[in-house]
Amino acid sequence: MTKKMTISSIKNTKGVRPLVMITAYDALFARLLEPSSDMILVGDSLNMSFAGQADTLSATLEQMLYHTNAVCSGAKNSFVICDMPFGTYSSKEEALKNCIRVFRETPADCVKIEGGADKASIIAHLVSNNIAVCGHIGLLPQSVRSEGGYKVKGKTEKEMLQLIEDARAVEKAGAFCMVVEGVKAEVASEIAACVKIPVIGIGAGSGVDGQVLVFSDMLGLFEEFTPKFVKKYMDGASLVKEAVENYAKEVITREFPQEIHTY
Ligand code: KIV
Repeated sequence: MTKKMTISSIKNTKGVRPLVMITAYDALFARLLEPSSDMILVGDSLNMSFAGQADTLSATLEQMLYHTNAVCSGAKNSFVICDMPFGTYSSKEEALKNCIRVFRETPADCVKIEGGADKASIIAHLVSNNIAVCGHIGLLPQSVRSEGGYKVKGKTEKEMLQLIEDARAVEKAGAFCMVVEGVKAEVASEIAACVKIPVIGIGAGSGVDGQVLVFSDMLGLFEEFTPKFVKKYMDGASLVKEAVENYAKEVITREFPQEIHTY
């Protein structure tokens, strides 16, 4: 995947092929992830995996700007999404002011906003001011404290109808794609079928238009907990620990540095 995706090429994948989205928080990993991904999400999940906090809520706009710039520097050819942190889009005015900062202070291609029908007027306001928006419905990590935990959505008829209403409202408001997180697979497929924009799933089964994973989860680097929906494509934590253990041993035994590492 060498050509940078655009909003139209992303939309045009619907019904043609699944989209590959992955998170990154720095230039180093962004460079490594770029060749195999369509879109890189600078997720506020960085507050947990990068900053070691218990949830995403204390991530700040300043931090998102810093990490988005780092990712954009490492992956110059990627379509980059900046996640708007908790409390930065509570009203239309606040959302526009903060999203303008993202567009002025980083080269991000769009922002991501958590929320469905309740956020539709804010999404529409951003889109009408030339801010491209990726929606995010279903399990909303920024609602973890108000909901008292991470709860899979779409388990009842009422929840299913609400999710479909949310998806339609986000599409109508002008979002060009949306993330659907932590939703029963059959409901997520239904959502993907009832909107024309791509629906990218995380913990939402295989019947959607693409998948997103947090890079530190899928590389097995984040050890605190592993949600059911995560597939670890390598055991990164063990590999890193083994490498550092070998380094430490060689430093202690003076095996490192050798002649080739010496000026
Ligand atoms: O913050 C994040 O990484 C996200 C993904 C889980 C979709 O929002």
